[in-house]
Formats: sequence, structure tokens, C-alpha cells
Amino acid sequence: MAAAGPTAVLSSGKTMPLLGLGTWQSTSEQVINAVKTAIDAGYRHIDTAQVYGNEKDVGQAIKEKIAEGKIKREDVFVTTKLKPNFSRPEHVREAMTQSLADLGLDYVDLYLIHSPINFKYGTDPFTYAGNPEEIYDDVDYIDTWRGMEPLVDEGLAKSIGVSNFNSQQLERLLQNSRIKPAVNQVELHPYLAQQDLVDFCKKNNILLTAFSALGAPARPKVFASGEEEPVLMEDPSVVAIAKKYGKSAAQILLRYHLDRGVSVIPKSVTPSRIQANFDIMDFSLSKEDLASLGQLDRKLRYVGANLFVTHKYYSY
Ligand SMILES: NC(=O)c1ccc[n+]([C@@H]2O[C@H](COP(=O)([O-])OP(=O)(O)OC[C@H]3O[C@@H](n4cnc5c(N)ncnc54)[C@H](OP(=O)(O)O)[C@@H]3O)[C@@H](O)[C@H]2O)c1
Repeated sequence: MAAAGPTAVLSSGKTMPLLGLGTWQSTSEQVINAVKTAIDAGYRHIDTAQVYGNEKDVGQAIKEKIAEGKIKREDVFVTTKLKPNFSRPEHVREAMTQSLADLGLDYVDLYLIHSPINFKYGTDPFTYAGNPEEIYDDVDYIDTWRGMEPLVDEGLAKSIGVSNFNSQQLERLLQNSRIKPAVNQVELHPYLAQQDLVDFCKKNNILLTAFSALGAPARPKVFASGEEEPVLMEDPSVVAIAKKYGKSAAQILLRYHLDRGVSVIPKSVTPSRIQANFDIMDFSLSKEDLASLGQLDRKLRYVGANLFVTHKYYSY
């Protein structure tokens, strides 16, 4: 069986492949094909979320690969995330049960609180036409976590973690939890290096996972700043480093995370890109090149949540 690439042991004791496939914003058919292509290419980590509406597709692709004999369930690390309108502790189990039913799995490897910014049960912040403040739920993420911990006890989630949390929020969670968050999934790339958060997570044994690592070129407008934003994959320094290693800019941007000890989940539905994004195990970046990528930081967030800036737990 093809290798999963480098892995990390989480604070839960479970092993997670550092490179995974992202699945946000794709059609049903695209997701099924992408996950199957990724598994054939060697990926053993798939990232989805209840809000992406594609858990059934991810589950179907995994099921087909298991039926083919390509993988066993335990070979693939599946992450999904709690919908931001199911964050009251009494709703967490309902969301988990629905995700497992849609994925067609008995357990997920990692279940994340999608965001500390939450919304009233039954509302949808992305389609709501009014002022989003009307549907805010300021449920404390510590309370949400109380709903997450029993999922580990019951074996429904092998590990639990969070997403879009800042270090103050993580600190508070660490001090108020029985099971520590194993992972924090955040936007991370050379334009948004977040060195303080990287250091904080390393010190506290929380694995960071980088999303939008390629600069999310197809992100929906609602997340963009509205200003002209530089294109990460076209950055002259990234392109020059890519040329030096005989790799693409995307491959350099992905390897950057592995060399920082960070997990990364590039999304693609294009078979050649899915394969190329995994083809980064045969080199590593020199200290000098990592340092020059480190100098590109400009605190640029491609997938911001400006719309929800007034939320009590806004984290950026
Ligand atoms: N936790 C959160 O709040 C959160 C937020 C955002 C994302 N995520 C997760 O992180 C994943 C990745 O982030 P993302 O989807 O925002 O953005 P991304 O991975 O930075 O970029 C994906 C885009 O890059 C293109 N692409 C992929 N590989 C390429 C390559 N080698 N060369 C050129 N273009 C390439 C893809 O096009 P094609 O698909 O057309 O090939 C797609 O349009 C998501 O899918 C999701 O699973 C989580």
C-alpha cells in the first residue's frame, strides 16, 4: 500500500497523516472522484465538514475504495467538523450522529469545533439575509467542548479538536477541559505565518492544520476582503524557490508546512493537481529557504470572517 507520507502522533495518542485532501466547495461528483483519486495517489487523510454538505460523497468514495480492497477503514484518517449552529452542548451529539450517518462510518478520526463563532440552532449564517447579529449564539466554546468530550468516551470520535481558535481561546480551553484539544485547524501560509500561534501550539502539544495553504484562489467573495489581494502561488519568492527545487509553487507552499511540523489539507478536484500536491515527499526546504518564506508574512487572511466581527468570540 502507498505510504501516507509523514505523520504526527496527537495528544490523544492517535497518529495523523500530515498531508490530507481538502474538500470544500466542490460538487458531489467532484468530491467522490477527488477522494478516490487521492486515495489512489497515497493520501490517507481526508478533511470534510458538515457545512460543506459533502459528507455523503466523502463516505461513498471511502466505501468504494474499501470495497475495492485498496484500503481498510483504519488506513484512512477522516476529519469532520461540528456545524456552527449545533454548538450548544445538547446539540453536539445530534450533529455527530448525523455526520456519521452521512459518512457511513462508525467513528471519525477527528471531530473539530468548526469555529468559536456560533449561530442559533436551526439558522444558517451563510444564507441568512438579515443582520447576522440577529442569529448569533454566544454559547461559550467551553460549554460546546463539554458536548465534545463524551464523543471520545463513546468511541464516536477518536480525537477531538478545534478550528479557527486563537491562542487565548486555546489557553482557556486547555485550562477548562478534561480531554485536551488535539488539533487546531486554521488558515496558514507564508502570507499569514502566525508564528506566535505555531509556537503556542507546539508548546502545548496541539497539532496545527493549515487550510487555504495555496491561497484559496476560488474562495467565495463573502470571505474575501474586497481589496485587491496578491496571489500567493504567483509570489516571486515562492516561484524562485520552486524553480530552484524543480517543483511547482504549490508544492513549495505545501512542503513549507511539513517542514514546520504542521499538517496541511490542500483542496483540489483536478486529478493531476491532487497527485502533484502529494508528490512532495522527495525533498525538503533548506533552513534558508524556510527563512525567506518566513519573511513574506503580511498578515493576509484570504478566508476571513469580517462579516461576523462583532461576535463575542470573533477570533482574528
Ligand atoms: N476549518 C475551516 O474553517 C476551513 C476553512 C477553509 C478551508 N478549510 C479546509 O481546507 C481545505 C483547503 O483550503 P481551501 O479549499 O480554502 O483552499 P486551497 O487548498 O488553498 O486552494 C484550493 C484551490 O486551489 C486550486 N489548486 C489546488 N491545487 C493546485 C495546484 N497544484 N496548482 C494550482 N491550483 C491548485 C484548487 O483548484 P481545483 O480544485 O479546481 O483543482 C482550488 O481552487 C478546504 O477544502 C477545507 O477542507 C477549512
